[in-house]
Amino acid sequence: MQGLLDLGAPDAQTPEQIGSDAWLLKGFALRDADALLAAIEQIATQAPFRHQVTPGGYTMSAAMSSCGAYGWVTDRHGYRYSPQDPQSNLPWPAMPTLFSELAERAARSAGFAHFEPEACLINRYTTGARMGLHQDKDEQDLSAPIVSISLGAPITFLFGGPNRSDPTSRWLLEHGDVVVWGGISRLFFHGVAPLGKKASHPATGLMRYNLTFRKVR
Ligand code: SIN
Ligand code: FE2
Repeated sequence: MQGLLDLGAPDAQTPEQIGSDAWLLKGFALRDADALLAAIEQIATQAPFRHQVTPGGYTMSAAMSSCGAYGWVTDRHGYRYSPQDPQSNLPWPAMPTLFSELAERAARSAGFAHFEPEACLINRYTTGARMGLHQDKDEQDLSAPIVSISLGAPITFLFGGPNRSDPTSRWLLEHGDVVVWGGISRLFFHGVAPLGKKASHPATGLMRYNLTFRKVR
C-alpha cells in the first residue's frame, strides 16, 4: 500500500536525465522557494535589476542582477565577470548561504561533488522575455557544473548540443525546479523560449526568476 507520505516529497524524486551529464531535479528547491524569493528582493534593493546590452547592441529582454564574489556583465565592450556592479561601482551583494548550500546540494545530487559557486546570476523574465541559444563559456574553470534554479512562472527550457545547429530538447521548468549540467555537456547550447502570455505563479504573478550558479575562476 502506498503511504500518503510518499506523495509530494521533492527530494525523494530521482533526477531526470536531459543530456550527457545534465539533469533536471524536479521540485528540488520547492521548500526553499519563499526564502529564495525574499532574498532576491533584498539583493535587488542593493543591485537593482537592469536590462543589459550585448556587444552587438541588442538589449536583453531578461532583466539581470547578480550576487556573490562576481557578477556577469555585458556591455558594448563584451561579456565578462566583474567583482563590482558597474551601476554602483560597489561589490555585488554577498551570496546568501541558503543559495550556495542549495546549489552545492543540487550539484551533488547530479553527481558533481564539492561545487563552490562564486557567482549567482539572477534573471527576471516578464511576458515575452526569452534567452536565445547560447553557451556559458565566460568561466575559466569548466570542470565545475552550472546549477540553474527556476522560480515563479513556468517556461520552456531548450537544451541542445555542442553546436548551435544541434537539435534541442524542450523541458518545462516550473517553480522550484533545478537543472544541473556539466562534464560532457558543460558547454552545450541552451536557452529559454519566450515566457508565455498566460504563464504565472501565485508567488510571483507573471514573472519568472532564474538563478544560475557558476564557478568563475
Ligand atoms: C541562462 O542560461 O543563463 C538562463 C536560463 C534560464 O533562464 O533558465
Ligand atoms: Fe546560460
